[in-house]
Amino acid sequence: MKKFIISIIMVSLILTLFGCKEKQDPYEIENPGFENGINGWILESETSDLISSDITYDGNRKYMKEGNSFLTTQGLNEDIIITSSVFKIGGLGKISFLMSGQTSLDANVSLINNETGENLLTATNQLYDGVIFIDNFIRIIWDTEAFMDLEVYIQIKDYDDTSYINVDDFDVKIETEEDHLFYMNDVLLRSGIKTDNLLMSAEYYINLYKYRMDPETRYTYHVMGEMGWINDPNGFVYYEDDYHLFYQHHPYSTSWGPMHWGHVKSDDLVKWEYLPIAVAPIVLDAGGGAAFSGSAIEVDDALYIIYTENWMGYQHQVIAKSEDGIHFEKINDGLPIIDDSDLPFYANPIDFRDPKIFKEGDTYYTVIGSRQINNFGQVLLFSSKNLMDWEYIGPVIQGSTNTIYKLGYMFECPDIFELQGQDVLIMSPQQIPGHRNTHGTVYVIGDLNYQTGMLDGWSIDQVEEIDYGFDFYAPQTTIDAQGRRIMVAWMQSWNRSPMTAQYGWAGAMTIPRVLTLDENNQLIQYPIEEVENYRLNGRTFNQAESGLTSTNIFGNILDIELKFYPNEGKSGITLFGDETGNGTHVYYQDGYIYLDRTDSMNGRHPGDFYNITKAPVVIQDDGSIDLRILLDRFSIEVFVNGGRQAITSTIYGSSEHDVIYLFSDQETQFDLKVWDLVVN
Ligand code: FRU
Repeated sequence: MKKFIISIIMVSLILTLFGCKEKQDPYEIENPGFENGINGWILESETSDLISSDITYDGNRKYMKEGNSFLTTQGLNEDIIITSSVFKIGGLGKISFLMSGQTSLDANVSLINNETGENLLTATNQLYDGVIFIDNFIRIIWDTEAFMDLEVYIQIKDYDDTSYINVDDFDVKIETEEDHLFYMNDVLLRSGIKTDNLLMSAEYYINLYKYRMDPETRYTYHVMGEMGWINDPNGFVYYEDDYHLFYQHHPYSTSWGPMHWGHVKSDDLVKWEYLPIAVAPIVLDAGGGAAFSGSAIEVDDALYIIYTENWMGYQHQVIAKSEDGIHFEKINDGLPIIDDSDLPFYANPIDFRDPKIFKEGDTYYTVIGSRQINNFGQVLLFSSKNLMDWEYIGPVIQGSTNTIYKLGYMFECPDIFELQGQDVLIMSPQQIPGHRNTHGTVYVIGDLNYQTGMLDGWSIDQVEEIDYGFDFYAPQTTIDAQGRRIMVAWMQSWNRSPMTAQYGWAGAMTIPRVLTLDENNQLIQYPIEEVENYRLNGRTFNQAESGLTSTNIFGNILDIELKFYPNEGKSGITLFGDETGNGTHVYYQDGYIYLDRTDSMNGRHPGDFYNITKAPVVIQDDGSIDLRILLDRFSIEVFVNGGRQAITSTIYGSSEHDVIYLFSDQETQFDLKVWDLVVN
């Protein structure tokens, strides 16, 4: 036996030495994706350092390679020729490969007749717009049917010192129509055109076009999409030492459209990292299985998301699972886990969305936004032992004619959680008559009855707005490892054209806010303290005068603390100010803190109704009011007296308007502290 093995080794050694390797399929080339380095290719150059396994080319944009490795001539200043093994044209007579690099006619891929040396086909990287696609691999498909059974080889050349070429993933033997179709789809996918694989399509589209986004016209520390439209926060969860936040996303435009779930994570809630799109619609149509809002929960180290699928006018809830917190697979065969058959007769199946899941004891619960058949809103409670089989318990809260001035109609995005022994329900009621944003966000406190589903003890008088600004909707909360209940909301409103659409994006999230209750069960919300780690360049300004004063403090990405002692009339601060004192004014007058953004809107959304808002405020025992104000180019978030009230708004930012003023009708003591917030 031993002898036999030794002789086999000898024979194969001899065969290898004399180049008689095991015969490879004559219709294939060796090492078509450079996964074995340069093996199987003949290289005519000094260097052999041509294989890269990089994922991104600027730490950000992706090559979109296949497998581990690809070939690149980047950084080499000599003429390079690389030749494949000889093969015969076969299969369907098509050849496919990936190519990118810096535009040049002298960096190309050719198909060459083995017998005559004739150049049959050439692809140069002039094929695509060198600025846009410079290093994103695009797919080439050559039609080589005319050369069927001809002996050929592939040659990659770079004769241009100033340019380079990247290649990967040759397939010279495409045998089935299915494979051909796959490659044709991949051509579209890689050029950002939508195909069947909507998840990858969105991912590639973003990867191709996000370079157009100018960092100077984006928020710096508020979560936003890499490009395009976003709305509600979804699936906010603390999972494996990171905060994960998903969001309603339409990457293809700055308007709402077929909903995907975008995804970011952070370890401190301030600096976020983009992850691949988590969920795509089933077809690219808002009614065709778009992935509406939902929530996340960790179970046995896996991350589950439960969300609404908007399907042909009906809405139902589906569930997906992820083992790594990044890639999600629908479970339950993609079928609904809760649908209209689970609804009570008094619920309309057309508006049935936004499940927020939580666990109490050994049972899972979800609240879901709903519309009663009489058109008023309601929140429904369901329970499950296993995440898959759900049972309706009852309505948590129901609106009626008596509640429309606070609760309007359909209740979107409900969330319920325990805070200091109380159950707090937050939700976003639609169409509140006379509401400045048409739709509002409210909270109410009670005691959730797990038997009946009812929020016992709630009353309409206790229903309060969560935020008094123009841009705060669909808040969602999570609890973190420190036990903090943290809320984040969409920092934009429906029905108003987002002012940043001209920059290629629309919508963002508020700064995450820690929630607590005060002694009167009033909800307190305050920016997570982590944001203070990014304060730089602290400046102070104190004064006790009346009139308008420039503080000579400038900036529009700022963290501000202002203590002042208001008297009769107006007193406050102007942000995003121009040289005349126009800007966004935040001031106290007669029991209210006002925010007036009229001067900061460039004529957009004219009228006081859309530009002046106010929050009731109680002056503190020492006669002062404390304001904490966060600015981020296009946004202002005001927290009054430690977060007893909040006012969140977008503004139409201009980087030239960055002066801070103080103003007052009477002599007023102001103590101002300002820091730049530097998050990059
Ligand atoms: C709230 C909302 C949700 C829905 C989602 C769709 O802003 O209307 O009810 O799930 O947006 O994007």
